[in-house]
Amino acid sequence: MTSRQDFENLDAKDPLAPLRDLFDLPGGLIYLDGNSLGAMPKTTTARLQQVIQEEWGRDLIQSWNKAGWMELPRRVGDKIARLVGAGPGEVVVADSTSVNLFKVLSAALRIVKEDQPGRCVILSERSNFPADLYIAESLAREQGLHLERVEADEISSRLNDQVAVLLLTQVNYHSGRLHDMAALTRAAHRVGALAVWDLAHSAGGLPVNLMGDGSAEEAVDFAVGCGYKFLNGGPGAPAFVWAHPRYVDRSWQPLSGWLGHAAPFEFTPDYRPAPGIGRYLCGTPPVLSLAALECGVDTLLATEALGGLSALREKSVALTEAFIQLVEDRCAGYGLSLVTPREAHQRGSQVSFAHPEGGYPISQALQARGVIGDFRAPDILRFGFTPLYTRHVDVWDAVAALRAVLETGEWHEARFFKRGQVT
Ligand SMILES: Cc1ncc(COP(=O)(O)O)c(C=O)c1O
Repeated sequence: MTSRQDFENLDAKDPLAPLRDLFDLPGGLIYLDGNSLGAMPKTTTARLQQVIQEEWGRDLIQSWNKAGWMELPRRVGDKIARLVGAGPGEVVVADSTSVNLFKVLSAALRIVKEDQPGRCVILSERSNFPADLYIAESLAREQGLHLERVEADEISSRLNDQVAVLLLTQVNYHSGRLHDMAALTRAAHRVGALAVWDLAHSAGGLPVNLMGDGSAEEAVDFAVGCGYKFLNGGPGAPAFVWAHPRYVDRSWQPLSGWLGHAAPFEFTPDYRPAPGIGRYLCGTPPVLSLAALECGVDTLLATEALGGLSALREKSVALTEAFIQLVEDRCAGYGLSLVTPREAHQRGSQVSFAHPEGGYPISQALQARGVIGDFRAPDILRFGFTPLYTRHVDVWDAVAALRAVLETGEWHEARFFKRGQVT
């Protein structure tokens, strides 16, 4: 493919092309950051207005029953379950990814302690998202365990009978590398460890299958994921949590708030966890955020009529493949090096390039030209490709802008070095 027209032709044939119209995308922008904050669905504004004006404004507290507010964490959870290979009633939406990770990691460690006392290691990837490592480190410290951080390629060889839990993120936020979740879960189980997965950069970006091949060996034990990235739930959208049915009813998560109680409105002084995944709820559901998240998840469920998540994956691979090729062809000699694996099966829906001095200013100069990606320290330019709304022609145009930024050297301008709080 050597011309813009080739990419326009791909868009003309794209079965998912109509889905772009589900989003309110500002004109003149190429948005390649849906892996960090998903775009806003068109339905979100009207839905939030309805919740605010009718459900809250008019019906006030009656809406907990009348508008089904209490059911929202489970209702949206059931929809997310369809994206991650879980069953109905197995997922709830609550809190943030970090908080849910604390809950499931605590629950998993407790199970291991009961069944196989003496295991003392939480094993994770050195470049796992820092929040995951921080939560694991804190729990390890509290419980007298050790957090071992290893390189991605060392994970399998570092699994042994000391490991209590393998904690990984399916798609690495930095490199965009996609782990083989089934194989690593199997490897963890082989040494008797439990497998806890963070799906923040995979749920909604590619097909996820928590149950693997259906065998006990391949099925994940616990998982969490994020609502504001590929699920398009809006800034700070609540996260989701899943526990395998074999563990959910015996698992004890430490944030035993009243909404995780079997009967919150009995107001008993003692804690009795709800059956099933409901015990992973803690406090009052954030209704406005849940309503927005439901609109976001619905945009993904709209793929079901158009080839489903495998069609989504096919497009994602085509977009990332073309982006890598075009950058390497058209931006050669400007110091960019590919960080994301070249093999499609090892890649999420994100491409990262390193640039030794220019990572941040190049990303800012690109934003000034209307191409929104982001930067992750120390030197990574990240580009997310959300197949729901990213067009093939956006790949061409984004690379043309990147080449212009590099060719003109405009990224050296002082204004592009000025750092905001969020990069
Ligand atoms: C992989 C991963 N895990 C956890 C988090 C933390 O999410 P939250 O801030 O919603 O707790 C993030 C945030 O970007 C993330 O990318």
